[in-house]
Amino acid sequence: MKGSKKIIIAIDGFSSTGKSTIAKELAKKLGYLYVDTGAMYRTVTFYAMEKGYVARDFLFEDGLIESLPQINLKFKYNDKLTPNNVEAEMYLNDRNVENEIRTIEVSRLVSKVSAISAVRKKLVEQQQKMGIDKGLVMDGRDIGTVVFPDAELKLFMTASPEKRATRRYKELLDKGHKINYQEVLENVQQRDLIDSTRKDSPLIKADDAIEFDNSDMGLKVQFERVHSIAMQRITSLRNI
Ligand code: DC
Repeated sequence: MKGSKKIIIAIDGFSSTGKSTIAKELAKKLGYLYVDTGAMYRTVTFYAMEKGYVARDFLFEDGLIESLPQINLKFKYNDKLTPNNVEAEMYLNDRNVENEIRTIEVSRLVSKVSAISAVRKKLVEQQQKMGIDKGLVMDGRDIGTVVFPDAELKLFMTASPEKRATRRYKELLDKGHKINYQEVLENVQQRDLIDSTRKDSPLIKADDAIEFDNSDMGLKVQFERVHSIAMQRITSLRNI
């Protein structure tokens, strides 16, 4: 990959479609930076929960908006847990919140918080700065439409809600969360609805994105396809 033109790869799609697994693998293989923008929205949500600005039946939007300057988000690269496989972990005001932001409670409230335009504006600006030098794989909901509308490669991932809920359920169980399948399925469906119907930057497929329905596709096959598409795109740009 040395000497080749670096590009931006935008991966959008519904929750629990395996976007982050694919994005992470792809970044590793290409030697690119990987950014999980969902983690950023989750962290702002976690902050809002701790401050009492959001709960299941409550949102104090003005309070959260006023506090936005006090929210400092950073990814730090941790090679201690996995020496050959550096993982980015999320920090909120210098505190590691990687585990806290993955709970079902944060999942329940995150769509509400991420529908706030002032929150999106702050995070989108930060995300765009990360792409200045290209060589980036970023996943989220609006990466190919809003954050990097000129990304050289855009992918859009979908799968049936039941398949996605099953994957998420297993993931949460593995991490030791106490949860039942029905709750996870409801959360997936609820988030799909809010994320794709919100006014600001709804989840939609960019016209020039390549769609992947991975309901019945294993990770390995999927990764090989995505990697081959990325390599074709990188090579074709080098030849221009
Ligand atoms: O990728 P994830 O499931 O961890 O994302 C959590 C939530 O954050 C998702 O339900 C919607 C929101 N989100 C967003 O609005 N825009 C993004 N670019 C990424 C995530």
